[in-house]
Amino acid sequence: MKKRVLSGIRATGRLHLGNYLGAVKGMLALQENSDYETLYIVADVHGITTPYDVEELKINRKEVVKDYLAVGLDPEKSILFLQADVPEHLELAFYFSSVMTIARMQHLPTFKDKVKQYPDHATMALLNYPILMTADILVYKADAVPVGIDQEPHLEVAREIARKMNSKYGLDFPEPKRFATKGEYVPSLTGEGKMSKSVEGSYINLTDDLETIKKRLAKTPTDSGKNTDRKPAPNGVTALLDLVTLIQGEDRRSKYLKQYMDGSGIRYGDLKNELAEAIYAELEPIQKRRVELEKNPDYVKQVIEEGAKKARVIASATLAEVKEKMGLI
Ligand code: ADP
Ligand code: TRP
Repeated sequence: MKKRVLSGIRATGRLHLGNYLGAVKGMLALQENSDYETLYIVADVHGITTPYDVEELKINRKEVVKDYLAVGLDPEKSILFLQADVPEHLELAFYFSSVMTIARMQHLPTFKDKVKQYPDHATMALLNYPILMTADILVYKADAVPVGIDQEPHLEVAREIARKMNSKYGLDFPEPKRFATKGEYVPSLTGEGKMSKSVEGSYINLTDDLETIKKRLAKTPTDSGKNTDRKPAPNGVTALLDLVTLIQGEDRRSKYLKQYMDGSGIRYGDLKNELAEAIYAELEPIQKRRVELEKNPDYVKQVIEEGAKKARVIASATLAEVKEKMGLI
């Protein structure tokens, strides 16, 4: 039997370069590997775990499906669907919550970060976030999960739940592992932390045109371009060089590093321009496909409906098995 892959992206906004390099590239690679059966969700239910606008969520969940199709996820090869359309995920999450303690969930760094960000919204839904993510994965008994490195604590929870359910109830859940890409950690354009849609000035959107990309890169802080005093490079410079590696390759980075160290100096204006062009060259075909998709809402609707139908066949079988073993059938 083929190994299964599951991944998802929250429906909280448009995709950025971090999502693309850290998650989507892995999703695409596994879609093209015939050893795997791939399932990709739009995590719309996860979107309600932090404050949100109902109308925006309605739009975003469809927008992410269009992004998926535009980047090259193919409904002929992968099952693409909306999490809320497969309620089995939510039911399984509740059963899983019976083997995890409140204390374990409260200690997760991702939970603490979100509580810091939204102090008045430390809800049960937020505490349950990683348990729902575990259900997304294990309802398909998926072993590989293409996501960025920031999701590792959630995958640890998933493995722990799999072990507990297996030993307590004699189930056969795999312990899912992260499928890493070269871009598992894309730095923020500000130089501080990772690129994230919740940090203004940190990201490049997949829909950005060349001028916008140039404007965004222009704001990344740099230095004189010469490492005269042999101090570590400032964070903005490290971020730029990391992006150069990811988009233009290792050789390009080595060339800049040499200039930085040997006193000839990096001209950041040129570096940023070349980097912007290279990023745009990667994004332009995606943007063209997206324009085509906008003209075809019926196709998008059909993809979503068929995806949910296929997913539910697998999900409901797992759920029946779990209920039986837990004494609920
Ligand atoms: P954000 O942090 O911008 O809200 P999400 O949490 O929706 O992004 O992440 C969706 C996917 O993209 C996850 O697999 C996550 O690991 C990945 N991802 C997000 N930001 C980055 C980044 N800066 N570098 C690499 N992967 C990332
Ligand atoms: N937690 C993931 C994120 O922040 C999104 C997500 C939800 C997910 N369910 C998933 C990722 C299942 C992988 C597998 O982006």
